[in-house]
Amino acid sequence: MSEKCRRYITRILLCLFSVRYLAKLSSVGSIRDEETCERLRGLIQRQVQICKRSVEVMDAVRRGAQLAIDECQFQFRNRRWNCSTLETMPVFGKVVTQGTREAAFVYAISAASVAFAVTRACSSGELEKCGCDHNVHGVSPEGFQWSGCSDNIAYGVAFSQSFVDVRERSKGQSSSRALMNLHNNEAGRKAILSHMRVECKCHGVSGSCEVKTCWKAMPPFRKVGNVIKEKFDGATEVEQRKVGTTKVLAPRNSQFKPHTDEDLVYLEPSPDFCDYDPRTPGMLGTVGRQCNRTSKAIDGCELMCCGRGFQTQEVEVVDRCSCKFHWCCYVKCKQCRKMVEMHTCR
Ligand SMILES: *[C@@H]1O[C@H](CO)[C@@H](O)[C@H](O)[C@H]1NC(C)=O
Ligand SMILES: *[C@@H]1O[C@H](CO)[C@@H](O)[C@H](O)[C@H]1NC(C)=O
Repeated sequence: MSEKCRRYITRILLCLFSVRYLAKLSSVGSIRDEETCERLRGLIQRQVQICKRSVEVMDAVRRGAQLAIDECQFQFRNRRWNCSTLETMPVFGKVVTQGTREAAFVYAISAASVAFAVTRACSSGELEKCGCDHNVHGVSPEGFQWSGCSDNIAYGVAFSQSFVDVRERSKGQSSSRALMNLHNNEAGRKAILSHMRVECKCHGVSGSCEVKTCWKAMPPFRKVGNVIKEKFDGATEVEQRKVGTTKVLAPRNSQFKPHTDEDLVYLEPSPDFCDYDPRTPGMLGTVGRQCNRTSKAIDGCELMCCGRGFQTQEVEVVDRCSCKFHWCCYVKCKQCRKMVEMHTCR
């Protein structure tokens, strides 16, 4: 790998570093008192202040961080970069860097996960500061009764905006990187907001629906991950422009339609993530990665292995089979062993 290329990749991986505080947060035990806030590594001063002011919310933030990492690894499991950087990156100093599509995804999913987990905690009744959304009440135009616990997404979003975005705001909002991160944070939260659903329950004799009560609920987090992954696939490459005295991000290619609030944006194209480089932390390469022989997509052996070829092994897998339903109520299965071909990149 050329020196120029190596420097470039290091810079991109450093983008991902700024959300590493979330990875650290996810690995601490529970956050119970203000003293824990002081000990949390990776938070900036303003975040420590928010932590102390809202200690009871912080445990939800910690769960949100874990949710973000799990979802990132799920969504990227079949790609060359599989979100492993978040675990393996050592600590670096502060570096202002350019941003890739991968960084856009990580910021969006992180901001969304914090909003999601805090909202969940509000609904579950574990927090004093917030509960269900009581602005949702009365009779709907469709004739059902709003009732039950509507998710208080406004509270979760506001908390995510203050806790997650404060890192960018404290750097000054004028750098293109800060603009990119703030935009993607907001797009992540929008992925929840624009997919809120109405859930209902019927009341009446023997399952009739004489009275219907409904409440507003967040989509499952997997759905949020799927939406943000789609935005990743269609992300817009942007550059900073000046409109009057304000700086904005506009599509680099002026023939593309402008991005919306819900789209992801990035400033620099990604590297190919093909090769392991000991001098670039987190650049693991794709040697040894499992690939799909018949797929033409990025999980296929051709693309995943970057043309280096692949090895095939016969491996034994144990599966559940001949499952029988027993009255009532359990399912009993046999264990079957079968040989399957497994392909891994050279
Ligand atoms: C990501 O890929 C690396 C090899 O490149 C592997 O060691 C690691 O376990 C993978 N991580 C996940 C979460 O699949
Ligand atoms: C491999 O890719 C093919 C074609 O995209 C797909 O039908 C198949 O389910 C994949 N196999 C695995 C094990 O993921």
